[in-house]
Amino acid sequence: MQDWKTLQEKVEHLTRELASAKRTIATLEGYPKEEKSARKLIVVKNLHKYYKNVKAVDGVSFEVYEGEIFGMVGPNGAGKTTTIECIEGLRRPDRGTISVLGLTPWKDGHALRQEIGMQLQEGNLFYRITVKETMKLYSSFYSQPASWQDLIKKLGLEDKQNVYYEKLSGGLKQRLTVALALMGKPRIVFFDETTTGFDPQARRNMWNLIREIRAEGITVFLTTHSMEEAQELCDRVCIIERGKIVALDKPVTLIQNLGAESKVAFNVGQAVEPETFQHLSGVNKVEKVDGQIIIYGNGKDIMAALIGMEGISLPDLEIKQPTLEDVYLTLTGRDYRD
Ligand SMILES: Nc1ncnc2c1ncn2[C@@H]1O[C@H](COP(=O)(O)OP(=O)(O)OP(=O)(O)O)[C@@H](O)[C@H]1O
Ligand SMILES: [Mg+2]
Repeated sequence: MQDWKTLQEKVEHLTRELASAKRTIATLEGYPKEEKSARKLIVVKNLHKYYKNVKAVDGVSFEVYEGEIFGMVGPNGAGKTTTIECIEGLRRPDRGTISVLGLTPWKDGHALRQEIGMQLQEGNLFYRITVKETMKLYSSFYSQPASWQDLIKKLGLEDKQNVYYEKLSGGLKQRLTVALALMGKPRIVFFDETTTGFDPQARRNMWNLIREIRAEGITVFLTTHSMEEAQELCDRVCIIERGKIVALDKPVTLIQNLGAESKVAFNVGQAVEPETFQHLSGVNKVEKVDGQIIIYGNGKDIMAALIGMEGISLPDLEIKQPTLEDVYLTLTGRDYRD
């Protein structure tokens, strides 16, 4: 009996090692390469979730590939947390299907929770226990947990080990929930607005941590209100608005497709008029404000044309490229939501 158990443990161990080696190879080969050939770890089809008469998620379909950092952005109340919670198996969809690692989340919750890590937007932990005790407690939930000491180091919580959860600042509480999400050595990890409330250093450190997590072969699904974060970190970004997906692609493609304008500005003497630049290739509009020429259009073309112009110097040149934030505001508008 004992031998059989040992053998079983060995097989489990080897299976994990093999999966981990495969993930490392995949990462070294530069995932996600061809999206179509990458494995789909999450497949969401026509997902609907209503709260009474609120259509929180209203027919959403998308896929998440192995090894990618997938971001979901959208205004308050757009349906991000509801979507994530359905994928995590915490809510049962009203309509549509979800497959995560081949499992159906609301049915196979127990098996799924051994494979995924969750950092919840409303992560209420036990108030009257310390950081270290919380880590040890969570570590006991898994058959092969990560080292909690390493995680505490990774998240910069070493000097807070003996502090009660209730005494931690908002950002530190959030970092603790990140450490807990990684405790079970997950294959997919979900971060719901993790960096909200982080100071700039903590935010950059979190970005680096997310990149490290991905380099280890873990797939990351995150939501954020920071377009800078989404543009910087995510391989693909899904923009959701009132429960429906309005765009989904690589940040650079979203920016290109929208045709958002660059802005090129420089100072000129009083004698130079805006019309001088209107005919240049790539130019949509030219303004002159307080002796500064501002040209809107295709940044690359405009720069090439300006450099080719005779007798023009470009003092105090500023170039502002369009960002994911421009795309986001164009697609979702500027009004308050929820
Ligand atoms: N438990 C609930 N009961 C009733 N309505 C809910 C519940 N949870 C969410 N909602 C509503 O469903 C809609 C989607 O909410 P959800 O929390 O998924 O949005 P979100 O995109 O995560 O927003 P945020 O950016 O503010 O976190 C909102 O209108 C919200 O008010
Ligand atoms: Mg939310």
